Amino acid sequence: MKGVLLAGGTGSRLFPLTRITNKHLLPIYDRPMIQWSIETLVTAGITELMLVTGGTHAGEFLRLLGNGHEFGIDRLSYGYQEKPGGIAEALGLAERFCDGEPVLVMLADNVVERSVRPMVEAFGADPHGARILLTKVTELEHLAHLGVPELDDGGRVVHIFEKPKDPPSNYGVTGIYCYDASVFDVIKTLEPSGRGELEITDVNNHYVTQGLMAYDVLEGFWGDAGESIDAYYAVNDFVRAHGANKA
Ligand code: DAU
Repeated sequence: MKGVLLAGGTGSRLFPLTRITNKHLLPIYDRPMIQWSIETLVTAGITELMLVTGGTHAGEFLRLLGNGHEFGIDRLSYGYQEKPGGIAEALGLAERFCDGEPVLVMLADNVVERSVRPMVEAFGADPHGARILLTKVTELEHLAHLGVPELDDGGRVVHIFEKPKDPPSNYGVTGIYCYDASVFDVIKTLEPSGRGELEITDVNNHYVTQGLMAYDVLEGFWGDAGESIDAYYAVNDFVRAHGANKA
């Protein structure tokens, strides 16, 4: 399976910290944020990676990561997103890199306590459609910043709502997704959302409608370090105390 790390966007929720650098280069405990998501993929057995970024600090990733070997990556490719046109647009840049293989996509501001290897193995065993990773979230206010699935009585995903005012469940959709190669055709059919972006939630709802959406529920801590300054520090505190990507 290939891996795609998305590290573009404006990082506007962390202004002014992100005025002078890319969000994913800010420190989380003892290393730049991007290194935690690289570790997530590499420890799950994915060592062919493409990093997609944009903006004026893209060159710093090359300086930090080089050919990736130091971080356990066999082959590291880079993609440049001209404008922050959305998560799905950024993923679309990885079509040739993926070359028909299934892919694990990770938003590089997400940090997990426990390995995502079980999800990768489950999708590897049946690499059709899409598989997402949910996390239990109790605070309504937090859910309003995330994608939130509506589940039926049998636990199947009926629809995913992006940043709902009235969340239909207590699960957030983390920024960790598996897709088969059809994802690139799905992305080509998308229209920009109200905020002018190609939304990953629209991609996911395509697979929900087709009956091709599976999910796992993550154990342990999950954080989105780009959600707010407070979330950024909460992720820092957690990683400092407990580490991340543990087996
Ligand atoms: O973190 C989980 C959440 O991530 C999900 O629950 C939501 O469904 C999903 O839409 C996303 O929401 P965010 O509001 O957190 O997305 P954000 O715009 O902050 O982008 C997340 C990452 O995606 C960011 O770290 C960099 C990358 N990105 C984003 C955009 C808009 C790009 O590479 N290019 C882009 O154009």
